[in-house]
Amino acid sequence: MSGGDHLSRRQLVAGAVTSAGGMMLGCTTTGADTAATLRSDLSFRTPLCDVLGIEYPVLQAPMSRIVTPEMVAAVSNTGGLGIYPGIGVSPQELRSAIEAVRQLTDRPFGVNLILHEDLVEPANPASVAASTLSAVQRTLNGIRREVGIAESTAGPPGFPDVIGPALEILLEERVPVFSIGLGLPSRELVDRFHNEGITVIAMAATVEDCIQLSASGVDAVVAQGSDAGGHRSTWSKRPSADYASIGTFSLVPQVAEAIPQPVVAAGGITNGRGLIASIALGAAGVLMGTRFIATAESAAPEFYKSALVDSSSDDTVVTDAFTGLYARVLRNRYTQIYGESSPMVLPAGMQQIAIADIVSESATRGTGDYYPMYAGQGLGLIQDVPTSADVINAVMEEARRELQGIVERMTS
Ligand SMILES: Cc1cc2nc3c(=O)[nH]c(=O)nc-3n(C[C@H](O)[C@H](O)[C@H](O)COP(=O)(O)O)c2cc1C
Repeated sequence: MSGGDHLSRRQLVAGAVTSAGGMMLGCTTTGADTAATLRSDLSFRTPLCDVLGIEYPVLQAPMSRIVTPEMVAAVSNTGGLGIYPGIGVSPQELRSAIEAVRQLTDRPFGVNLILHEDLVEPANPASVAASTLSAVQRTLNGIRREVGIAESTAGPPGFPDVIGPALEILLEERVPVFSIGLGLPSRELVDRFHNEGITVIAMAATVEDCIQLSASGVDAVVAQGSDAGGHRSTWSKRPSADYASIGTFSLVPQVAEAIPQPVVAAGGITNGRGLIASIALGAAGVLMGTRFIATAESAAPEFYKSALVDSSSDDTVVTDAFTGLYARVLRNRYTQIYGESSPMVLPAGMQQIAIADIVSESATRGTGDYYPMYAGQGLGLIQDVPTSADVINAVMEEARRELQGIVERMTS
């Protein structure tokens, strides 16, 4: 920095964070005093908090078969935003879950739907080539023999048409926040939610897709780095797992520069350091998934929680073998056999239905060998199974401590 641009050390640190995430620092002193002032005055209130009506800029990711109403309420009651996954449940279950969350909290919460093109308009099973179906069933039958269940050559039924009815439920229920994964909503759809007073957030994995989300009028955009657990948030399937595969550190600052809405960083974030780093990259908050799988309120089987705690960041792989769409999971016997056997998968959703017998048997046996254990690369930092409220409190406490440590390291 040239002499004319000189800033004090306090301005350098506080200014960098403030301009990036818009976080309220409340610092009025310089030098050694700064560190002490940071700790007591720091509110962590960013523009994202105002958009969502929350206290802390920390969102719990929607995760099918993991997130419970209890988890959503615990996160929201602690000052973050809990988000219930609306995919994979019947309309009645969705209404009951929203009701259950409302019984447990009067704070804002979200409900998520996956709006992938292939799920909004599910493929006709008759359109699947016979050669694809037999190649997939040949691979699955090898796994079925190993697991000890009946083989099959049948074509699975199509993915049920559930997204349309679910959208209507969210509108009728006037949920506080509608969260979209793997989909580009039309401006009309976003307007319908806005007209009901519902805030809309949506997630994408490339700069270009985040710009498209921004143009659709959503209130905040989640930039999902390739470190993330679960499905890549794209609305059309890419040619291979190498596409839409940009690390959180590279993606977030580009998205923050490209769009006016608050940006939420996702992918590999598990703690307060991740929050501070994300704010420094230009995000106004974080969304964490994998960290919440290993919590008391999580519906994940015990073998899944244990596997997360015992695994390291090198233990994940991106595969379409579980659902037909690319997702980051823990490597296991299923991903190994599938990867060695066949590059063929059925269309989105249909693949998941075709392997349901294998997944169910794995769960019954209490083993993760053939079970989809979605996980992000931050899992090496997960070593315990706390409550969801403890996760939020620990993230905020560590973020305060870490920021103070940064200031101390840079002012000594
Ligand atoms: C088990 C699991 C299930 C997920 N299910 C959904 C989902 O239903 N809808 C969605 O938009 N994102 C889903 N995601 C992706 C998350 O929204 C988020 O991008 C991801 O968890 C962030 O990365 P992290 O897991 O490293 O924190 C899922 C992720 C995981 C790990």
